[in-house]
Amino acid sequence: MMVAPPADSFIAVQGLYKSFLGQPLYEDFNLSLPTNQLISIFGPNGCGKSTLINMISGLLPYDQGQITIHGKPIRQARIGYVFQNYRDALFPWLTAYDNIAYPLRVRGVSAAECHHRIRTLVETFNIRLDLERYPYSFSGGQQQLVSILRALVGDPEVLFLDEPFSALDFETTLFVRDKLQEIFITTGIPMLMVVHNLEEAVYLADQVLLLSKRPTRLVERVPFDLPRPRTPDTLSSPEFIQVSHHCLEIFRQEMGK
Ligand SMILES: Nc1ncnc2c1ncn2[C@@H]1O[C@H](COP(=O)(O)OP(=O)(O)O)[C@@H](O)[C@H]1O
Ligand SMILES: [Mg+2]
Repeated sequence: MMVAPPADSFIAVQGLYKSFLGQPLYEDFNLSLPTNQLISIFGPNGCGKSTLINMISGLLPYDQGQITIHGKPIRQARIGYVFQNYRDALFPWLTAYDNIAYPLRVRGVSAAECHHRIRTLVETFNIRLDLERYPYSFSGGQQQLVSILRALVGDPEVLFLDEPFSALDFETTLFVRDKLQEIFITTGIPMLMVVHNLEEAVYLADQVLLLSKRPTRLVERVPFDLPRPRTPDTLSSPEFIQVSHHCLEIFRQEMGK
């Protein structure tokens, strides 16, 4: 039986339990997230960030509880997911084009419709990649961009990203981060993004969810409402510094417990 989620919530997690090998990770965990936001998830290594977005996105089963998106069970929602390691996430035997088209093809979308959707994506986001090439011939940032396009092609109601920058070098991170921000501003697709670098977590976010060590609790939700686009100047703004500093304080307190 479904318990009614809070009225204004987009993603609602209620009474969630999850253990691995008898060790509890989530115990009666609750979370209610508004729509149209880019939300970062930050917490210590191994606290369950990936597990959380995997359960919310329907990739991983949980032991008890209920997760809904727009009041519907997650399996009825259209989701996009960008994996942490783009090297393992793209099919090496498919061109970039066929990688992006893959989620549409498995749903039986016609070749003409695939072509139209991919063209629209490429034009909207000004993607300058030769999509007839294979993943190995692209740089890391370009491969991650292909992964992001693949996650967007099915017109998702929500996009999940697990440490999308962690396997990228600094320069590439800046490039992919800017593209992601552009995609968010243009489409308004709500995004739930795990980030292991605190400044990265704050930079793009409307709010940062700070998680504790396991068994995992939501320690604090920290809003960051500086207007977009955020730019390198954001990093030196008093608001950014204050919010990052606050998050760091909370994190250090948690780690000291
Ligand atoms: N399939 C699994 N089997 C056993 N333990 C797991 C499995 N997946 C995750 N864990 C454990 O659950 C905890 C949280 O993992 P994870 O969600 O990957 O953490 P994070 O993404 O925050 O670094 C870790 O202690 C990890 O070892
Ligand atoms: Mg993880």
